[in-house]
This record gives sequence, structure tokens and C-alpha cells, in this order.
Amino acid sequence: MNLGVRDAEVAELMDDPDCDPRRLAATLRRFDTVNRLISGWGGVYRSRLRPHLASLGRPARVLDLGCGGGDLPVRLAGLAARDGLDVEWVGADPDPRAIAVAQERTAPGVVFRCTDAAGLHAEGARFDAVVSNHVLHHLSAVELRVFADESLALSDGIVVHSDIRRGRLAYALYTVGVTPFAPGTFLRTDGLRSIRRSYRVDELAAALGDPWRVEAASPFRTLAVGRAGA
Ligand SMILES: C[S@@+](CC[C@H](N)C(=O)[O-])C[C@H]1O[C@@H](n2cnc3c(N)ncnc32)[C@H](O)[C@@H]1O
Repeated sequence: MNLGVRDAEVAELMDDPDCDPRRLAATLRRFDTVNRLISGWGGVYRSRLRPHLASLGRPARVLDLGCGGGDLPVRLAGLAARDGLDVEWVGADPDPRAIAVAQERTAPGVVFRCTDAAGLHAEGARFDAVVSNHVLHHLSAVELRVFADESLALSDGIVVHSDIRRGRLAYALYTVGVTPFAPGTFLRTDGLRSIRRSYRVDELAAALGDPWRVEAASPFRTLAVGRAGA
């Protein structure tokens, strides 16, 4: 497998509108486990979200854009509640199949919406922070710029987009590590294709341009960080 070059042509099975709905739903449900193991949001919450939300000194609103099966806002809501922070979490995804799975989860302070950034913008929605997980690598070059711009326009504070970072170690570890979680899902095929589609730090920085700061967050992760008004 040549991981030296980003493969923007390989398509993920879950991005096919005609994919098997049962496998898609099973995949979205199992993202919960995969995200806990590989996404590093506990650290992002402690180092970036918690200090920002705590500094506001008032109730806050946070958007997870492209929330898929909804596990991230539910997890973040639990962490924030334990820290005594008063936060409304909005999980938004334009795919009704994703929102149907997300709505199987309930947690205090979390709502799920079948919409995208443009829909939220049209309503005049505002957030103190906007986050996403594993969305950037799904997008075309044009979609990526639009997604980034729109996420920044919805935030009065910070924006943090987290994604996989392409690399041999990530590919090798995922090939082995996904085995117990893969049956009945697209996790094996799509996870490996995700790695092939994902960016290295310099590539994502070039694709996003100003005002984004792109950082390596672990051996396998990339963070694109933006700030309203920067
Ligand atoms: C791999 S899933 C990630 C789901 C979830 N964030 C997670 O980490 O498990 C990518 C999600 O991005 C959503 N998506 C794709 N394009 C989008 C866009 N332009 N705006 C918002 N969400 C989008 C898809 O519908 C899909 O649910």
C-alpha cells in the first residue's frame, strides 16, 4: 500500500447513498467504541474545550458538525457535566440515516438535528465552539473549504476539527486492531480507506489555508484549529 500520496479517489462504502442500511447503522453505532479508542477527544476536551467553556462564565452551546451516530456529543456532555459546566450540545448531520442512529442515544443537554452548516446559519444559530470528528477526509477539496469556512462562521469562539493522519503505523495497527469490531459493519474497509484518504499535517494546512492552524495531535491524529475573528 502506497501511503506516500493521499488517495482522494478511493470511495468509502458508507458514502454510497445506496449502501446496505443495516450495515451503515451498525457502523455508525460502533463508531462509539472506535472513537473512544482512537480519536483522542478526552485530551482535546481537557486541553481546549474545557478551558474555553469554563472561561465563558455562562451557559454555553457547542456544535458537533457531521455527528454521525452521535457518540461524540454524548461523551463530551458527560465530561462537561462532571466538570460542572452548563453546556447545550447540538449534534448535526445532513444524513437522516445518521441522525436516526444518533437519536437512539439520549443524554441530558444533547440534541440531534438533521441539518448542515448552511441550514444552521440560515436559522441564525450561534455556538461557542464547533467541533467535528472524521469528517474532513470525506470531503472534496471544494467541500473542505466550504465546511471549514461555514464552521468558523457559526462559532463565536473556537473550532476544532479532528481527523485521522495518514501513515504506515496507523494503517498497520488499524488492520489488526479493528478485527473484533468489524463484523456486520463497514469498519474494516472504510477505516483503511479513510486512512488512505486522510491528510498529513502539511497537506491539510495547504488545503485549508489561513486562518487555520493544523497540528499533529498524536501519532495518528491531525487537528485543524480555528478561532472566530482571527
Ligand atoms: C465518518 S462519519 C463521522 C461521524 C462522526 N463524526 C464520528 O466521528 O463517528 C462522517 C459524517 O460526516 C457527515 N458529513 C458529510 N459531509 C458533511 C457536511 N458537509 N456537513 C456536515 N456533515 C457532513 C456524514 O453524513 C457522516 O455522518
